Amino acid sequence: MSEDARGLGAPKGTRDILPPESWGWQDVLRLAMDTFAAAGYAPIETPAFEHTEVFERGVGATSEVVGKQMYTFRDRGNRSLTLRPEGTAPVMRAVLEHNLHRGPLPVKLSYAGPMFRQERPQKGRYRQFFQVGIEAIGSDDPRVDAEIIEVGSRFYRAAGVETRLLLNSIGHLDPSCRQGYVKLLVGYLEDNESSLAPEDRERIQTNPLRTFDSKEATTKTVMEEAPLISDHLCSACRGHFEAVTGLLAEVGVPFTLEPRLVRGLDYYTRTAFEWVASGLGSQDAVGGGGRYDGLSESLGGPPLPGIGIAPGLDRIMLARSAAVAPRSPVQVYVVAVGEAAKPASFGLATSLRAAGVGTELDLMGRSIKGQMKDAARSGARWAAILGDDEISSGTVMLKDLDSGEQETMPVEQLRSRVGS
Ligand code: HAM
Repeated sequence: MSEDARGLGAPKGTRDILPPESWGWQDVLRLAMDTFAAAGYAPIETPAFEHTEVFERGVGATSEVVGKQMYTFRDRGNRSLTLRPEGTAPVMRAVLEHNLHRGPLPVKLSYAGPMFRQERPQKGRYRQFFQVGIEAIGSDDPRVDAEIIEVGSRFYRAAGVETRLLLNSIGHLDPSCRQGYVKLLVGYLEDNESSLAPEDRERIQTNPLRTFDSKEATTKTVMEEAPLISDHLCSACRGHFEAVTGLLAEVGVPFTLEPRLVRGLDYYTRTAFEWVASGLGSQDAVGGGGRYDGLSESLGGPPLPGIGIAPGLDRIMLARSAAVAPRSPVQVYVVAVGEAAKPASFGLATSLRAAGVGTELDLMGRSIKGQMKDAARSGARWAAILGDDEISSGTVMLKDLDSGEQETMPVEQLRSRVGS
């Protein structure tokens, strides 16, 4: 029934992920977590909601995410809680709460889960979306930046997504570095205020760096001539960035320097980056990340540098080449010929499953033709056909659904035959 017919559908900006797309979804999710695990990132689960303060202090009150997009509510105990709009501040909160930073460093963690932002829905932009991510906390060594970025790039390649990596350094919060640059930028924006789009004028004082992200043509023209952070980094940040780009070049990770890349969350320092894919329209960032050397302190923790990435699964699925067919986990479909074969086919399917062979069988009392059709739907490679003759002789007829070839064999042989 359509949403109109029932009057009840998934809430605006949310969606259901249905088969067969959901198979591909799980494949990509598994691939991400395996890729992260192979680089030593251990899974962490944090709650889907946090105290609102975690995001206000962590992500930053001047960011659009915190200012305009959070699902914040009071629970029955009158606590202000927020559905997580991102995963980094919660991971840092958990690290500090459980003193993981007192153990071996860096703390390397991976996560996967739904995030919530009340944005205007459009292609590739949802109010509930799914991120996978990794965070490395406790080291400011440029090799950590390079590792995180390399792992991310390898994941996109393995997932069949062609991306371009946009890379920048936005310096650290210090008068000798970003603070000095921001003063310069504010001066430039004030001088050109009348040429900025009205909504961008407000940003001059609240979040001047974000004017680089404006979609307004007039602002874009102004920003073409704006001073760039890359020309005003302190020598320590410049050295750090040169080390990161050098390491990436050494291991063959392609990147494009993008001096106007600023990112939307306030916690970023130094290395900042995004992976973009073509064919997605304006929502083309399939993932992003960066360093957040001040986040721990914003949450009341000790100085503790960190860096991470969060690929967005929804956009990855949109960008993934259509040629990547989802894999069906069902290998065998058991076909029952006649009433008497029904219990035996149920028994055979059960024993195959117990042996780790993905198996389906008819549950609707279909004709043989109907069962063969359902076998094709299941994605199974083989049909195992059981009738009176087979049951009495302890055999099964195995049909290869790709080639059409069939052979009769003792039931005990079936498992090794389809497992090969
Ligand atoms: P972010 O750039 O806000 O970064 O989000 C990362 C990715 O999540 C985006 O590139 C995009 O693929 C996906 N995404 C974000 N919003 C939406 C949406 N409304 N609909 C669909 N997909 C979306 C972060 O969240 C940081 N926590 C990343 C990070 C990890 N930085 C350091 N560590």
